Amino acid sequence: MSEIFKKLNLSNFEGLIAVILSILVLNIFDYNLVKMLNEFVFLLFAWYFLIEVLLLKNIYHFRLHKIYRFTFYFLYLLGIFVTYPFIKQYGFVIAPFLITTLLLTLLMSYEVGITAGVLQVLLLSFHLGSFTIFAYYIPQILFMNFLIRNINRRIEVAKSAFYNSILAVILLLLQPSFFNLYNVTISVLNPFVSTVVILGLLPYIEYFTRIYSNIGLSELGNMNHPLLKKLSIQAPGTYYHSIMVATLAEAAADKIKANSTFVRVASYFHDIGKMIRPYFFVENLPQNAENPHEKISPFLSHIILEDHIKSGIELARKYKLPLRIEFIIPQHHGTRVQKYFYHKAKEIDPSTSEEAFRYPGPKPQFKEAGIIMLADSVEAAIKSINTTSYQSIKEVIENIVSGIYNERQLDESGLNLRELELIIEEFIKVIINITKARIEYPKEDIQKVVQVNDFK
Ligand SMILES: [Fe+2]
Ligand SMILES: [Fe+2]
Repeated sequence: MSEIFKKLNLSNFEGLIAVILSILVLNIFDYNLVKMLNEFVFLLFAWYFLIEVLLLKNIYHFRLHKIYRFTFYFLYLLGIFVTYPFIKQYGFVIAPFLITTLLLTLLMSYEVGITAGVLQVLLLSFHLGSFTIFAYYIPQILFMNFLIRNINRRIEVAKSAFYNSILAVILLLLQPSFFNLYNVTISVLNPFVSTVVILGLLPYIEYFTRIYSNIGLSELGNMNHPLLKKLSIQAPGTYYHSIMVATLAEAAADKIKANSTFVRVASYFHDIGKMIRPYFFVENLPQNAENPHEKISPFLSHIILEDHIKSGIELARKYKLPLRIEFIIPQHHGTRVQKYFYHKAKEIDPSTSEEAFRYPGPKPQFKEAGIIMLADSVEAAIKSINTTSYQSIKEVIENIVSGIYNERQLDESGLNLRELELIIEEFIKVIINITKARIEYPKEDIQKVVQVNDFK
């Protein structure tokens, strides 16, 4: 079966199973073979165009881990399973369609949420032969998912329920035969009840799937997380570096309309692995302390530094951090070479291969990962130069970004050249603002900031 799917260039067959299951779920209640076959053919087309052609190829989440696909299909099926008995029992106005589609928008993206919603509505209106269901729910699904597409505060979900109730009443007005007190009351209440259920379910889904909404991410980013507290005590230089990376990356993500909440929070955690051996990272060395790398071979230095990736991933799993944050840990170094130790090793043994000093990768797989890689390198380079001149800051940033681009580290991130230009502009703005603020500091403090350095 999987061979056929490969030949047809289809990415999975869990989707096909979900299609079959959703039809079986509907037909448990009123079985009719001919109708069932019709539905199967109809849904197969809808599934192919909406999921295979549009969704799985264009939404990067589905390439990252199979849990995204399973969560999508699970919530799609749950939507059908819960909605159908409700419609049968209480009429079409009480269908809890919104719950699963809004959850998917919060957890992944607007496109994912509306695809699940449209598929659910299509199947149910087809099964019940009801155009009313289609006309009443499609506008609501598009509208309410659109309202919550980029939110990171719970209150925004509640607000969207208010606006959607107004829309639901307007949609009822368009079908006068259904405009009665019962339907109006349910139409007004349905979005509110849906949002209460959504906000109640969200933390459980996030914990079990490790797919986090921006609401969950914002909570992780409030600096109270035990890992961040540990990082601030055991590796204060890395903690400071992570906050600076977050500031740079968040501004850049905002500029190119990437997910800036995720970028900020992921930046806080990107180097948590450094807390295992903090003094091997120069930003954590106390002033005038001896650098431990002076005493060991560059090959061993490389292994120790590379280990912050492995330790970081282990910590991310132990603390059940969001999956995408775990992916950022190896991707922020991509497959770059640790040049400092590579050159040091080459002095000892000229035949040393660059490959021996390469990070394991993978390269950044999505825009946010690319932005963090750039911000990480820019932050490390900027703090090692002692200047506040606009021209030199601009040159350093441009060199770093073009260097990473030319190494082809951003090939799989989805970032285009226009976006890279905008990211550079934003980095320059942020750095200039920070260095201006630094000038106001007392002299000793400036020295401390400048002396903190980072071996890449
Ligand atoms: Fe790192
Ligand atoms: Fe870093």
